[in-house]
Amino acid sequence: MASQLSSWWRNAAIYQVYPRSFQDSNGDGEGDLQGVISRLDYLKSLSIDALWLSPFYTSPNIDGGYDVSNPRDVDPRFGSMRDAEELIREAHKRDLKIIVDIVPNHFSTEHVWFKEALASTPGSQARARFHFYDGRGQSGEIPPNNWCSIFGGPAWSRVHESDGSLGQWYLHLFDSTQADLNWENSDVHADFERTLRFWLEKGVDGFRIDVAHGLAKDEILNDHRDPEALSRALRLDVSEMAQEERESLLLDVPFFDREGVHEIYRNWRKIFDSYPGERMSVAEAWVYPSSRGTRYVRSDELHQIFNFDFLIAEWNADFLRAAIDKTLNEVSQVQAPPTWVLCNHDSPRLVTRLGGGELGEKKARAMALLTHALPGGIYIFQGEELGLEDAILPDNARQDPVFFRTKGADKGRDGARVPLPWIADEKNFGFTEGKPWLPMPSEWSKKSVDLQTKTHESFLEMYRKSLSIRSNHPALKPRISRDVSSEISWLPIQPGVLAFTREPGFTLLSNCNDDPIRVEISGEILLASQSGVTQKDGFTTLPAHTTCWINRTP
Ligand code: NOJ
Repeated sequence: MASQLSSWWRNAAIYQVYPRSFQDSNGDGEGDLQGVISRLDYLKSLSIDALWLSPFYTSPNIDGGYDVSNPRDVDPRFGSMRDAEELIREAHKRDLKIIVDIVPNHFSTEHVWFKEALASTPGSQARARFHFYDGRGQSGEIPPNNWCSIFGGPAWSRVHESDGSLGQWYLHLFDSTQADLNWENSDVHADFERTLRFWLEKGVDGFRIDVAHGLAKDEILNDHRDPEALSRALRLDVSEMAQEERESLLLDVPFFDREGVHEIYRNWRKIFDSYPGERMSVAEAWVYPSSRGTRYVRSDELHQIFNFDFLIAEWNADFLRAAIDKTLNEVSQVQAPPTWVLCNHDSPRLVTRLGGGELGEKKARAMALLTHALPGGIYIFQGEELGLEDAILPDNARQDPVFFRTKGADKGRDGARVPLPWIADEKNFGFTEGKPWLPMPSEWSKKSVDLQTKTHESFLEMYRKSLSIRSNHPALKPRISRDVSSEISWLPIQPGVLAFTREPGFTLLSNCNDDPIRVEISGEILLASQSGVTQKDGFTTLPAHTTCWINRTP
């Protein structure tokens, strides 16, 4: 147990690379693995521990690579298997770990299995790997049940049988090109175990498990009482819905968080543990209530589960304190580490979510410093360290299937996926020699990595400092603790302010108010999210929307 408690991933800072938007190396307008390799020194300069790469596997790329057609190969748009091997090697040389995505809920309809299923007859072995059923109604024209896709529209599509007639339906919780796999089928288990071993043998240090709560399905032939409301309720980060209605829908989702998923992860854990080094896994599993998430990180299952409380949080002291306490208490029950996520490729960027502009930026900086001082793992989405906002895109540039399946009602996730600005004075800010796959806002020159590196108070320099202090300060750096909830102690403080200590000697102060505050705490100021923090006579004054880290003097 002791070795598990001191494992690298318990307190790691993990940087999410969305390869298509990170760095292009061959001028085709899309990022690639050689591009990532060329920026490893930049990543190292952030004092992160690991990169998590969104999918770079063979894929028609309808859903940003989460529609995998061969999970054991590299899509030519991203490079080759040799590039993937080189990336793993080069990252390891710099003491950076590599986490890759695995997408077990569905395969692309371009996967050879799906093609075989289409060419086979109803009831065949090939169809049994997916969820194929006859339709209802006189000629099977009504889908097997009324579930909706999370991306909008029905969750079933009808196929043509080999004689050209309209035939069975298959289930797809996401896009119609992402056919859900049937996890009651032994071929599916065997194939994913093979994929895990394939990448473990290539040397990856872990897996981010896509839709980890979705593999087992119940009552697949029953209608849901309100499938459209259920899909809206599941988009926690974007949709507006009264809390009560959302809760009543989320308490029982027939395709998510069913008991059957845990058996799968117990088997996977044995595979991870059979490889040398500390291989890890993190579950993407939006479950309700969040306490059910701890079931995924029991000691014989997965290592981490994303905690998405901060992904939807406002800059509000009561909300944040309650979320921190709840999370620490929940994971402590199973001795798992907490995780903190401020944004990712599926959600609005942090500055945008907090209102955008100067104020949004101020709040985002303050929220980042709060997050970086918490115990556990933190996940940073590429460009978060630059303080990027979502780009405003014309509809004709959009590529996200969510936009198309909702007929434009939901603009989708492209705004957060626009390529990164590296060098202010270069074409496309150094991202590509070609035409970027999504247009890059001209004002992003000011946010480029090179300019921010030269600016002492920039977003990027703040991230560099906070992540570096986080990995060196004795109160923040990895420690061995069974009960992570005991790692922070809240201080009594006025409304709208968060104040906690971590031993030895660290104090955090976050002022979420619109006005400055003065508190009777002092010491060496290690870092502040903006200028203007002052100290006098044992008191610290913080401007509005500011976090500061203090080293208490004994
Ligand atoms: C979650 C991924 O993060 C998202 O990008 C994807 O669209 C869905 N899962 C479906 O794979």
